[in-house]
Amino acid sequence: SLTSPLPADLLSTNRSSIFSGHHGQLTLTSVFLDEYRDRLFLGGKDVLYSLMLGPTSTESKELYWPPLPGNRENCIQTGKDPQTDCANFVRLLQPYNRTHLLACGTGAFQPMCAFVYVGHRGEHVFTIDPVNVENGRGKVPHDPSFRFASTFRGGELYTGLTADFLGRDSVIFRSMGGRSTMRTETDQKLLHDPKFIAAHVIPDNDDRDDDKVYFFFTEKASEPGDREGAIHTRVGRVCANDVGGQRVLVNKWSTFIKARLVCSVPGPHGIDTHFNQLEDVFLLRTKDERNPDVYAIFSTISNVFQGFAVCVYRMADIREAFNGPFAHKEGPDYQWGAYEGRVPYPRPGVCPSKITNQPGREFGSTKDFPDSVLQFARSHPLMWRPVFPALRRPVLVQANIPHKLQQIVVDRVEAEDGHYDVMFIGTNVGTVLKVITIQNGNSLETEEVTLEELHVFKQAIYVGSPAGVAQVKLHRCETYGKACAECCLARDPYCAWDGFTCAQYTPNNKRRYRRQGIRHGNPALQCVDQNLSDVDVTEDDVVYGTENNSTFLECVPRSPQASVSWLVQRDDRKEEVKLDDRVMATEQGLLFRHLLHEDEGVYICRSREHGFSQTLVRLSLQVLQGDAVDELMSRDNAGFSDSIKERSAGSYRAWMPCTAYRSGTSSHSRLWFKDIVQMIGPSNLPHVEEYCERMWCNDKLRRKHKSMLEKYRQAQESARKARSKSSGERNRMPRNKDSLGH
Ligand SMILES: *[C@@H]1O[C@H](CO)[C@@H](O)[C@H](O)[C@H]1NC(C)=O
Ligand SMILES: *[C@@H]1O[C@H](CO)[C@@H](O)[C@H](O)[C@H]1NC(C)=O
Ligand SMILES: *[C@@H]1O[C@H](CO)[C@@H](O)[C@H](O)[C@H]1NC(C)=O
Ligand SMILES: *[C@@H]1O[C@H](CO)[C@@H](O)[C@H](O)[C@H]1NC(C)=O
Ligand SMILES: *[C@@H]1O[C@H](CO)[C@@H](O)[C@H](O)[C@H]1NC(C)=O
Repeated sequence: SLTSPLPADLLSTNRSSIFSGHHGQLTLTSVFLDEYRDRLFLGGKDVLYSLMLGPTSTESKELYWPPLPGNRENCIQTGKDPQTDCANFVRLLQPYNRTHLLACGTGAFQPMCAFVYVGHRGEHVFTIDPVNVENGRGKVPHDPSFRFASTFRGGELYTGLTADFLGRDSVIFRSMGGRSTMRTETDQKLLHDPKFIAAHVIPDNDDRDDDKVYFFFTEKASEPGDREGAIHTRVGRVCANDVGGQRVLVNKWSTFIKARLVCSVPGPHGIDTHFNQLEDVFLLRTKDERNPDVYAIFSTISNVFQGFAVCVYRMADIREAFNGPFAHKEGPDYQWGAYEGRVPYPRPGVCPSKITNQPGREFGSTKDFPDSVLQFARSHPLMWRPVFPALRRPVLVQANIPHKLQQIVVDRVEAEDGHYDVMFIGTNVGTVLKVITIQNGNSLETEEVTLEELHVFKQAIYVGSPAGVAQVKLHRCETYGKACAECCLARDPYCAWDGFTCAQYTPNNKRRYRRQGIRHGNPALQCVDQNLSDVDVTEDDVVYGTENNSTFLECVPRSPQASVSWLVQRDDRKEEVKLDDRVMATEQGLLFRHLLHEDEGVYICRSREHGFSQTLVRLSLQVLQGDAVDELMSRDNAGFSDSIKERSAGSYRAWMPCTAYRSGTSSHSRLWFKDIVQMIGPSNLPHVEEYCERMWCNDKLRRKHKSMLEKYRQAQESARKARSKSSGERNRMPRNKDSLGH
């Protein structure tokens, strides 16, 4: 589903480009990226687009495709909404043959399909024959807001959807091609209020007769131990060569079976937290086409807890569940259990093929299956054993976050030390999380590394939302800083240190000094001969606070995984800052709720990650006596307006000399600026400049400040002395030992 708003920060960088249709509002409802033709096809409300993806520019063509005559009016007459229901929302775009795409839309609650001529590779043609329109029933839902899943194989379309006007007929369909249409029987045992998320063809072996179509969906749970209305996630499958039975199950699936997909984490008191609601599935295809990795996003939403998890399933585990016992219930008052009786031959769920046939018991088609097989299949669609994820737990868990994880795309990246699966996870607030998980040796522990929160196809990811489509480059290594250690700590498999910059990593480029440290992210190993002191901050910034008031020292590590510690240096002695109710470490920095004179000192913020620590910020904290401040504030000729004075009363905390204000860009001036804004309120931003000018940059006041500045200089001087002394010590120690604690 493409429901997120467009990420705002994508618009402001050159990392991305945005397409919003020819009329400003795209109302995007389907996307098909054609890597062979280098084209992006988009479906929206009464419209289709073709984008020719050139290296420098993108050419777009539009096709208007409204509902058939009269259907819009009929739709409105049945009480549907003219804007959100009674249009042709294009939901399906599939490659059909060498020259045509299949497009299906809701057609104002009268689903319809058409073939779109897109031409051969290299030519940009895009036409639709408005006369040659087919009934789209069973191919897309009537209701544009309903989820469905589809996949194409051998000219036939497999869909999981609700196929009627009222949205009650939940069914797995096969249509088009030469064979007769297939569907599931209407039976809650087979499908109970399902919501289809994905459908994929996955072969079992080289025999195409063994190909199976997998559906990933949620449905109402039938197993015991669940509260009323509980939802379970299922993987279900049918044989692609299923043609139904001869006397029973005529034109109905005879090979449909399903199993539960479990995604849970151990909770307190031995009770697992289950993520039952499937949100999205991505099939990471590998060279072995029979064994893709199945990445799935799940959610769990209750009154007390909202969480999301990504679980990865192996096809071997899915097949094992399907080869295991069937779930069985003797009658309505009995418990569920594993079916222990004799399973008829051929075993339900097995496709008729050369490989599965036993000598002398050959079945050319499901029409040859004995009735006993079809009866058993009909009464035992559910497998007894669930499918657990690889390593039995999620690769990613996010709890009580302010956004929802909705969509996932995974890119397998070859890096210096193996391959990494980079997950791009779209949220409902228009951001894309780029995450890798790292397994440490043989241990069960994995580590998740959030690389960026961004706001995919070879070099780019396409992010769709109702408003438009954004093309975003896969990496921006240059943001990881100017030193080897930072590049390495970022642990982005797309990036590596090339000796000079953090740049895009290309696996076949065997330059010797390429450094990448994704698994361990340890710059001590990766960057031994690089200049680690580059990344250490050497200059002290000065922050002023007033006694008995609060003040804040900002320090945010670049890497979200780093842990931060604070040291304070006084008279050449460095010690850890004692934290308590008065002095608190927050995610953004150190908060003094009540500043004391003895808090004065040089505060050093250090980040630590994988045994590598670096100094991020050195701040010289100066504590001003209340009376000095009061005097300054009370002076009429201080020149700032009464209104500002009023607002600032009680929160007058940060002080800074003119020169620093004017130089403008240091982290310190950011800090200072924040304080000023807080002081006068954001609506008075234009006044800040004026205020600062008067406050700090007129001569009278400058004299007034002299005593404070004097103090500032002294503090700087002593800090410098302390620093030169300690760096002298450092130089006598083995190189970089100080930065690389073990
Ligand atoms: C984006 O690119 C354009 C043209 O290449 C350039 O003028 C503009 O400054 C760039 N913007 C940013 C934020 O880099
Ligand atoms: C592709 O399918 C369309 C629609 O059935 C048909 O008109 C066209 O001839 C086909 N093209 C090829 C190359 O088979
Ligand atoms: C290391 O970095 C420091 C500070 O940027 C610089 O003065 C020094 O020359 C560098 N050393 C080497 C070996 O590059
Ligand atoms: C700060 O508070 C202490 C006690 O709470 C008081 O003795 C001292 O005078 C105050 N200092 C200023 C500058 O207000
Ligand atoms: C904080 O500073 C302001 C301005 O100097 C002063 O009016 C206020 O009383 C101070 N707050 C405390 C708790 O001392």
